[in-house]
Amino acid sequence: MLNIGIIGTGWFSKVHANILSEIEGVRVKAVCGTSTEKAESFALEFDGARGYGVLEEMLETENLDAVYVCVPPFAHGDIEMELISRGIPFFVEKPLAADLETPGRIISALREKPVITSVGYHFRYRDAAIKLMEELKGCQLGMVTGYWMGSMPAVPWWRNQEKSGGQFIEQTTHLLDLLRYSAGEAEEVTAVFGNKVMHEKHENVTVSDIGSVIVKMKNGTIATLTNTCILPDGVSAIGLDYYHDNGILKLNQEGLIKSERDVTIKWKDRDNPYIRENRAFIQAVESGNSSGILSDYHDAYQTQKVALAALKSAETGVTVKLEDINKNIV
Ligand SMILES: NC(=O)c1ccc[n+]([C@@H]2O[C@H](COP(=O)([O-])OP(=O)(O)OC[C@H]3O[C@@H](n4cnc5c(N)ncnc54)[C@H](O)[C@@H]3O)[C@@H](O)[C@H]2O)c1
Repeated sequence: MLNIGIIGTGWFSKVHANILSEIEGVRVKAVCGTSTEKAESFALEFDGARGYGVLEEMLETENLDAVYVCVPPFAHGDIEMELISRGIPFFVEKPLAADLETPGRIISALREKPVITSVGYHFRYRDAAIKLMEELKGCQLGMVTGYWMGSMPAVPWWRNQEKSGGQFIEQTTHLLDLLRYSAGEAEEVTAVFGNKVMHEKHENVTVSDIGSVIVKMKNGTIATLTNTCILPDGVSAIGLDYYHDNGILKLNQEGLIKSERDVTIKWKDRDNPYIRENRAFIQAVESGNSSGILSDYHDAYQTQKVALAALKSAETGVTVKLEDINKNIV
């Protein structure tokens, strides 16, 4: 039986805990929150699980095989460092942090003391993404356009730039990550962000609510990723469109659409990508073989670099080269 700990007692901790409790040979054994009360109330839903308000206490008391880290971007850092120092494999929700320094510190620790990691870039596990990767093999890609158009999440941390990193880092990162996965590594990034509507409608909104990012890839492909969070709840458009020498591949919220001269084919997502990503991580922990994990901490760090390059470009008004981001890190 694999004993799993969960850190965070919010929405996505519950999603993962529910999936884990359906996997044979796995149990949610412990939960750590910002208070013991919140953690105990969460733990009540999982047979035999215990709640903790202090991470070190949970890790010392329980013999955990792996831990899920489902906290907001600003809360990362010490948690992962503690897990690495104890050699505990972890699954961490995206984004890795609101900044680049925090994951940089974690990457250094992982280099010294590797543990199995997985990051919640679940788009990679979608049926549509698997099909997309197959379809892209036979064509010459020119451009990619992506869009994450939605509403502003209700949780207060999301609206605060320092706490969440803003929409591009917090949500559009899924598209950026899939872009890297499917179309290659970024060479340079140019971004424009604006604050048009939401700061007038709500208090304490310091994140941008509109933005466009141009990514020039090392292989010459050009991508634009655009996002807004001004839409009303329940209205959204999220997708990536690939323009290539045989036609168009459109990955949207439902699946993938292929349009070529005489043919249009639609593939709908069937399997739940969250279940797939959880099973991949659990299998890796059980077997010690992490080849089924499609996004580990090292890979996700590359996505974080491009996202932070976009933020820097929007702040400075100039194009940012990934080479320079890497130079500053080393
Ligand atoms: N992959 C996806 O599709 C997906 C979907 C939703 C959320 N997420 C990600 O999951 C993360 C959490 O999002 P959420 O919607 O669950 O947020 P949430 O606000 O509902 O929950 C966050 C929880 O973390 C707790 N927390 C904060 N700091 C903590 C700390 N130091 N120790 C322990 N607990 C702490 C809070 O008390 C809260 O219970 C975010 O990074 C978000 O982007 C991913």
